[in-house]
Amino acid sequence: MDTIVTTSKSAGGDLVATAERLAARLRSPYMRREGRSLAELRAASGGEIVIVLESDRTVCRVGGKVFFFHPNMAKQRISVLALGQSDPMTDALELRPGDHVLDATLGLGADAIVAAHVVGESGRVVATESVAIIAEIVADGLQRFTCDLAELNAAMRRVEVVAEDHLTFLRRQAEDGFDVVYFDPMFETPLLSSVALSPLRELADHRRVSPEAIAEARRVARRRVIVKHNRESPVWDELGISQVVGGSASPVAYGIIWCQEDRP
Ligand SMILES: C[S@@+](CC[C@H](N)C(=O)[O-])C[C@H]1O[C@@H](n2cnc3c(N)ncnc32)[C@H](O)[C@@H]1O
Repeated sequence: MDTIVTTSKSAGGDLVATAERLAARLRSPYMRREGRSLAELRAASGGEIVIVLESDRTVCRVGGKVFFFHPNMAKQRISVLALGQSDPMTDALELRPGDHVLDATLGLGADAIVAAHVVGESGRVVATESVAIIAEIVADGLQRFTCDLAELNAAMRRVEVVAEDHLTFLRRQAEDGFDVVYFDPMFETPLLSSVALSPLRELADHRRVSPEAIAEARRVARRRVIVKHNRESPVWDELGISQVVGGSASPVAYGIIWCQEDRP
């Protein structure tokens, strides 16, 4: 789909310059707004995806849907952790302060934010996203979105986004370069409860995690590789994952591949 980049009607010079740089990174045309409506810009350019830089966020309009960064459930999950309660993802990953985590499927970044909160300032969370528009919008939001929970703001700022396919990224990493590698691919049958991911679906990369990516992740992870999926899914067999946790009270389960250090 063709993409154009523009700004809100009231944008000043700084925002215009930022929009021009974003357009260059996405190799898409930048269109001056000049008071025109988005429908007029679309008609003039033929662009089906319109990215609009606003003063406090970047918005992507595609197929009648609007996609922008929001931390979604990350705020609630961090608050729950602060009460000493558990989080299924951080439990499955067995995250500890200081861990280096590769989130291989950034999406809207909620899992990466929660991971960054748990590993803390001494840890590191790198998150790959193969769809450049998603990577750009989420990376921008992670730096700019501010709410009333200081821990959430700090965690968002620490997530390092890499706009790249995870297999390409993994191939460049050293053996044991991360403690944990985590995959949360798009579910083939979306869960009704995952409303937050609905606008993402139009843009997202829907490929399954490949056996090659798992093999690379096993090489790169020191402790474990985790794959999130529906409990009833052929992916467990496809990827050779026999240890699956969670999913008794929820349709979501986590497959665990133990690496060198965590192997029981
Ligand atoms: C279900 S979403 C992840 C949701 C995320 N865990 C969260 O908390 O918001 C899956 C994301 O992974 C991305 N993705 C799929 N295949 C990928 C690949 N090979 N490399 C990098 N990102 C990929 C999709 O584009 C999508 O944005």
